This record gives sequence, structure tokens and C-alpha cells, in this order.
Amino acid sequence: MKGLILSGGAGTRLRPITHTRAKQLVPIANKPILFYGIEDMAAADIHDIGIIIAPGTGDEIREAVGDGSRFGVEVTWILQDQPLGLAHCVLIARDFLGDDDFVMYLGDNMLEQGLRGFVERFERSRTHTLSPTLDGPRLAIPSAQILLAKVDDPRAFGVAEIGDDDEVVQLIEKPEDPPSDLALVGIYLFDASIHDAVAAIDPSPRGELEITDAIQWLIDDGRRVCHEVLEGWWIDTGKKDPLLECNRLVLDKLHRSVEGEVDDRSHVEGRVVVEPGAKLVNSTVRGPAVIGAGSVITDSHIGPYSSIAVDCVVTDSEIDNSVVLRRATINGIPRLTDSLVGRDTEIMRGNSRPRATRVMIGDHCNIEIE
Ligand code: G1P
Repeated sequence: MKGLILSGGAGTRLRPITHTRAKQLVPIANKPILFYGIEDMAAADIHDIGIIIAPGTGDEIREAVGDGSRFGVEVTWILQDQPLGLAHCVLIARDFLGDDDFVMYLGDNMLEQGLRGFVERFERSRTHTLSPTLDGPRLAIPSAQILLAKVDDPRAFGVAEIGDDDEVVQLIEKPEDPPSDLALVGIYLFDASIHDAVAAIDPSPRGELEITDAIQWLIDDGRRVCHEVLEGWWIDTGKKDPLLECNRLVLDKLHRSVEGEVDDRSHVEGRVVVEPGAKLVNSTVRGPAVIGAGSVITDSHIGPYSSIAVDCVVTDSEIDNSVVLRRATINGIPRLTDSLVGRDTEIMRGNSRPRATRVMIGDHCNIEIE
């Protein structure tokens, strides 16, 4: 079994963060989203991983991941020149994948449930259905296995319709009138027959080769597609609020570890990580929260569900339910909440007259003033 991680998307829904940074490298609890996927594969004994990258962000991703050895995996880099869709990624990964079964993982998806059980069930169904029991119906060997999750608004996803016999009958990408509330999670298992499918389909109205259409092609071709309904949470982290929600869910599992410097006027309450080299001066951190190495928090309150990355400077401020990326400076802000703050950003209260809000902000920003 090989792994294919798709890490080429432009991340338009996370602009402006993604003007300068790959969305898959935005941190959740101070670890890039992409790393969770790689670790999940390694934990499922998948060590031969292809990662699809795009020209603009590929170098940064390669640099962050390295050769994969620190995750115990071997990485093959595959460049997708243009964003032509998820099924196009399978097309260009043909040499890497060969005729092996593989798990395909969208690099911005995160889920609570590990991959291992999902992979094992596919492997089992591909060997055990070969030997039918005497009295049971003989099921075809599945060519693919998909993971589904109940969602409130299925129109934003690929959607599956399940028949009375519990088999997948239809898959539609972002339907206006969804046949069910079961969305396709961005994790799929395939055998080599998917290569025929991705070669046969046409681009969708958004101009992409959709993996949803390729799986539908398998069904139309008479092949069996198994499905499972997800246990636990799943988040497509491609927008701010889901990203903050994911940060909360991951922080909820944090183990307390205070290795940085905490002066005697500071308080660290609950499940908090203060990384080595971080410094708290006359401040409170109420968990779950993480303070990155080299960050200095002075006269401030860091509230629950905050991830402060490395080398940030927070002074005379209150922050909660926010993700702050590296080297940000936050000074004199009484209540910063529900926020995603990019790298090298400065937010401060000024003293100059006339008193006013002064900004220099990039394209596609979103600022809400109290
Ligand atoms: C993609 C797939 C969609 C799936 C979703 C999961 O959507 O096309 O079927 O439900 O990922 O995250 P996209 O992120 O390209 O809009």
C-alpha cells in the first residue's frame, strides 16, 4: 500500500495567509496541518508516500517536510503544473503508484479517527471476499473505499447516495440538490483500476478532473465501491472558522508540558504547553493553549484554544480562540478573539493623534473591529 498526499491546492479561501504560505503548512496546535496526515500514514504502516505539490508553494513544502525520514517515511515529490483537479493528481502520479493499492489523502483534511482501521478493512475485504462463505452472498472485491461524514450543508462537498443494500449508488460533486447529507471525506482507498477511471473522465464545470467523477466511473463500470461513515470529527481546514475549530479539537487533547520560563507573577492553568525557550512575564495562560519556543508573553492573558507559534511577542494583550503564526507582534490589544494572525504581522494600539485605526493590510484580508 502506498500513500498519495495532495498538497498542491492554492488555498484561495485562506487568503491572505496563503498569498505567502502553503495552506497545508498553516499550523494547528503549532504543527503544520500536512504533518498530521504524514504521521497518520506512518502510523498505518504506509511508508512510501508521494506528495503532490504546486509550483508556487512546492519548495516551501519540500523544505518543511524534508526527505520524510523524521516521520519514518520516504517521500517522492510530484509536481502538478496546473490545478487541474484531484483526479489529475492520480493521473500524474501514475509512475510513482505503479499498480499498487494506495490511500489518497487531501493535505488540508484532518480527522480524529486514525487511518489504520480504514486501511486494514480495505485490505481485508480485498482478500476475504475472494473466498465466499457457503451460505453468504458473494460480494465483489471492492476497487475503492470511501469515507463519508454527515454534514449540515452537503452542497460544499462531494456527496454520496447509498442504496437500500448499503452499497454506494451515486456520487456527485457539489450538487445543488444533494441526494443525502453524506459528504465525501478527503481520504480514499483505491486499487489500480482508478487509473482507467481518471483517464476516462472529462473535466467538470469548474474545469477540473474530479475524483468524485472518477469513483462514479468505477461504479458505472460495474465495480464495487465500499464506504464507511466516519467516527469522530473531520475538518476540511481550508477556511478560517473550520481551521480554528480544528485547532480547538486538537488542543483539547493536549498534554500539559511547561518547559519554558514562567516568572513568579505568571500563572499557567490547565492543559498548557509552554515550549522550551518561551517566556511568560506577569501573564496568565489558561489552557488548552500552546506557546511556541522563543515567544515572549508579557502582562497578557492567553485564553483557552489559543496557539501562539514560535518567536511571537505578545504584550499587554488578551487573546483567546486564535491561531497566531510565527514572529507576530501583538501589543496593547485588549481582546483578540476568533482570529488567525499571519506571520510577521504587527497588531498594536498606537498613541498618535488623531486617535484612529491605521492599517497597512494586504489583499483579501478580513478585519472586524469591535
Ligand atoms: C474536495 C472534493 C470533495 C470532497 C472535499 C473534502 O473538494 O472535490 O468531493 O468532499 O474535497 O474536503 P474541494 O476541497 O476541492 O472543494
